[in-house]
Amino acid sequence: MGKEYDKYCHFVFVCNGKDCCKSGAKDIQKQFSKELKEKGLKASARVIKTKCTGRCKEAPVAIVGQHWLTRVKENQIPAIVDGLVLQKA
Ligand code: FES
Repeated sequence: MGKEYDKYCHFVFVCNGKDCCKSGAKDIQKQFSKELKEKGLKASARVIKTKCTGRCKEAPVAIVGQHWLTRVKENQIPAIVDGLVLQKA
C-alpha cells in the first residue's frame, strides 16, 4: 500500500466480486463505513473494496485484520467492529 494509507491503523476489506455483490457486498461495505464513523474511527480506519477473494460460496466475504468473515450480515457489523477493530484501537 502507498503512503496515503500510512495514516490508517485498521483496514476492512470487502469483496466486491460478482457473487459477493449479488449477496449484498455493497450494503456490507456501506454498513462498515457507517459503523466505523459512528464509533469515531473514520480517521483511523479504511474500508477497501477487493476483487474476488476466491471464497464465493461463502459470500459475502470481508477481511478484518487477520480474520476472514464469511456470509456477513449487516446486523453483525456492530459486533464485528466492536470485537475486531475497537479491541485493537
Ligand atoms: S465474489 Fe467474493 S469471494 Fe468471490
